[in-house]
Amino acid sequence: MSTKSVIRDVNQHVGETVTIGSWINNKRSSGKIQFLQLRDGTGYIQGVIVKSEVSEQVWDDAKSLTQESSLYVTGVIREEPRSASGYEMTVTGIEVIHITENYPITPKEHGVDFLMDHRHLWLRSNKQRAILVIRAEIIRSVRQFFDTNGFTLVDPPILTPTSAEGTTNLFHTKYFDEDAYLTQSGQLYMEAAAMALGKVYSFGPTFRAEKSKTRRHLIEFWMIEPEMAFTDHEESLRVQENFISHVVQSVLKNCRTELETVGRDISKLEQIQAPFPRITYDDAIEFLHEKGFDIPWGDDFGAPHETAIAESYDKPVFITHYPAGIKAFYMKPDPNRPEVVLCADMIAPEGYGEIIGGSQRIDDQALLEERFKEHGLSLDTYQWYMDLRQYGSVPHSGFGLGLERTVAWICGLDHVRETIAFPRTLYRLYP
Ligand code: 4AD
Ligand code: MG
Repeated sequence: MSTKSVIRDVNQHVGETVTIGSWINNKRSSGKIQFLQLRDGTGYIQGVIVKSEVSEQVWDDAKSLTQESSLYVTGVIREEPRSASGYEMTVTGIEVIHITENYPITPKEHGVDFLMDHRHLWLRSNKQRAILVIRAEIIRSVRQFFDTNGFTLVDPPILTPTSAEGTTNLFHTKYFDEDAYLTQSGQLYMEAAAMALGKVYSFGPTFRAEKSKTRRHLIEFWMIEPEMAFTDHEESLRVQENFISHVVQSVLKNCRTELETVGRDISKLEQIQAPFPRITYDDAIEFLHEKGFDIPWGDDFGAPHETAIAESYDKPVFITHYPAGIKAFYMKPDPNRPEVVLCADMIAPEGYGEIIGGSQRIDDQALLEERFKEHGLSLDTYQWYMDLRQYGSVPHSGFGLGLERTVAWICGLDHVRETIAFPRTLYRLYP
């Protein structure tokens, strides 16, 4: 009799006979012994088949297995200190489910386009699996942070009548006879939710028709957007640094093996503890001038600027108080200096760029109306948003964390395309 198990749980079955549904990751043979590298999604284990100890049928079935063939494998679990997992299986039985022929992703090197065309299969590789496990842990720890710090989860709509972050990169669709757009950010709705529930957060997909082909941009990405009533800019920064520290420390605690699989320098992550350094936009401009960059006050930072600034720190850095002209219409001006706004971008270390954008919001009705006019936004479509300033307006702040950039940073990946199972990048909709 054998028990059904998964590779992750074999440590509970040492000395017992178990059956595991699995795929062949790799295989080698030395005449009278075959070694099967088995994977089942939860881990990897080597199955050892000794010709003199099994029936001819089992031996021949094992021989027929190719890369990515599927099978139920039965055998005795042994501790094996020389193997990476610490365990091995002495195979006693094999039930072949499906023999794979000509699996396209072989152990040799493949180009990125080829791998992206085969993303549905590429996911099975050790590294891609590890990334998805880390992503899931990041999401779990994000939810844990907000759920245990007094925030309520609220889901904003995905089909919207207006833009939240500027009108240039909207995905347009028809909503029966009306025009609709896929959401760029749930923020405006989350502001309404904060006035109902105090502290709220959302976690959902957002869409930007950005013609940016960079290693930081996706067309469809997931965002975590907390919004807090009775909270100023300064308090929001403290939430942000505690939040990011919590997420990084959770991954370090719960995903050691996966971080090793993706080759992450763990010592760099261990330094990610609140508080984080802060630098104003003004000081950042001065710093860039000292470094030889030719950027006038009032221009937005590009990736090279952000990277240069981040290089001075081994933690994420907040750049605060940007000029109003390069930021969103809803950001509250600094009362002492209205040409800059009470906002911050959090820039990740090691060149990963902006992972959070946030601000205190305008709570004054007249000023918000003025901003609408300046930005050419129609008051009709935003009437409900204006209502929030008419009925019990309060100081409030919030921010948005881009999940994929966070995964790229924590995993140390070159490109965000590997941070989500099926990335939507510029001009790629397949698979
Ligand atoms: O800075 P953004 O545009 O801010 C907002 O959307 C605010 N409404 C958030 C808020 O205050 N509630 O976007 C927030 C974050 C960025 O810092 C970045 O991490 C990520 O979303 N992001 C992208 N990630 C991948 N691909 C893209 N095209 C992204 N655009 C933004
Ligand atoms: Mg931003």
